Amino acid sequence: MHATALCPLNDLCNGTIGSAFLENGRRIAIYHVDGNVYATDDRCTHGDASLADEGSLEGHTVECGLHLGAFDVRTGAATSAPCVHAIKTYPVEVRDGQVWLSAE
Ligand code: FES
Repeated sequence: MHATALCPLNDLCNGTIGSAFLENGRRIAIYHVDGNVYATDDRCTHGDASLADEGSLEGHTVECGLHLGAFDVRTGAATSAPCVHAIKTYPVEVRDGQVWLSAE
């Protein structure tokens, strides 16, 4: 595991979704909810949709814009059909105003 600097926390307004690429090319969606930051894979587990580009965030729930399935950004659990498979989450921490993600 190693830490990857994603972005300054100030770049993520509360209630919004950002994104970043890992060194392996995988795109990550980053969520700012009331001072806490969460990260998941960007690609919906139901279909070919980007949660960062097409999703909307309401509290801790990200709704996919393509078929309106949803996930809990804290756990990755699918919370609304047609999504049934959890989305991968990543540990995130904020240090000195910078968002860091730990990934394999
Ligand atoms: Fe996300 Fe279908 S692609 S709900």
